[in-house]
Amino acid sequence: MTVTGGMPFTGDAENPREAAAIRCMTPDDLPPISFAPPAPPDAWPVPDAAACHALWDRYAMPDHIRAHSSMVADMAMALARAAMADGTGREDGADLHLPSVLACALLHDIAKDYTIRFGGNHAQLGGAWTLHETGNPRIAQGVMHHVHWPWQVDVAVPQWLMPLIIIYADKRVKHDRLVKLEERFDDLIERYGRTERIRERIRESHEQAVDIERALSARLGVPLHDAGLRGGQLAANAG
Ligand SMILES: [Fe+2]
Repeated sequence: MTVTGGMPFTGDAENPREAAAIRCMTPDDLPPISFAPPAPPDAWPVPDAAACHALWDRYAMPDHIRAHSSMVADMAMALARAAMADGTGREDGADLHLPSVLACALLHDIAKDYTIRFGGNHAQLGGAWTLHETGNPRIAQGVMHHVHWPWQVDVAVPQWLMPLIIIYADKRVKHDRLVKLEERFDDLIERYGRTERIRERIRESHEQAVDIERALSARLGVPLHDAGLRGGQLAANAG
């Protein structure tokens, strides 16, 4: 594996903030965590729900983002449970550590309100805050990459499954309601699509979300496009 150096070209971005967003989405920025020495999922501290709620308080998360994060956590946990019970008999289900999935989902937007107020990239800052607060690089990776996955969409890589589940769960939750991908991305275009470049990036993100949906549907054996939640479990054909 060759690691390329230097910054990707971002000279045609409209402003420095957008250039930074482009930079963070290139594969050259960081290696995937699978390059790190193997470690069991519980090798690092994992905050439970109460500890995550305390972090919400510490970082002054507004109520509507708490509600959104709770719904993302419900969806992520249902996906993770389905992945662990997919009947393949493989042990890689064990790489999904449910307490880590819960913490990652609850914390994924920890920096959202701050960056709305003061600027910056909420995924990057959230990843940094999460690493600082938890000391857990896997959970921090999921927070940092919950908007965009800069490597292949491959749910067979055990270390990638959790972040891909977090991305997908987030893309299925509009505010605090479970919706199909189309509705979520229509809303993103409407709220954030101020320029053609931004709209293009949202469309790219939509395409990636569809790829993740396809990959997870195959991995879980559940058609996820219109899957909903019932009693904390995935329910196919929920409309
Ligand atoms: Fe979110």
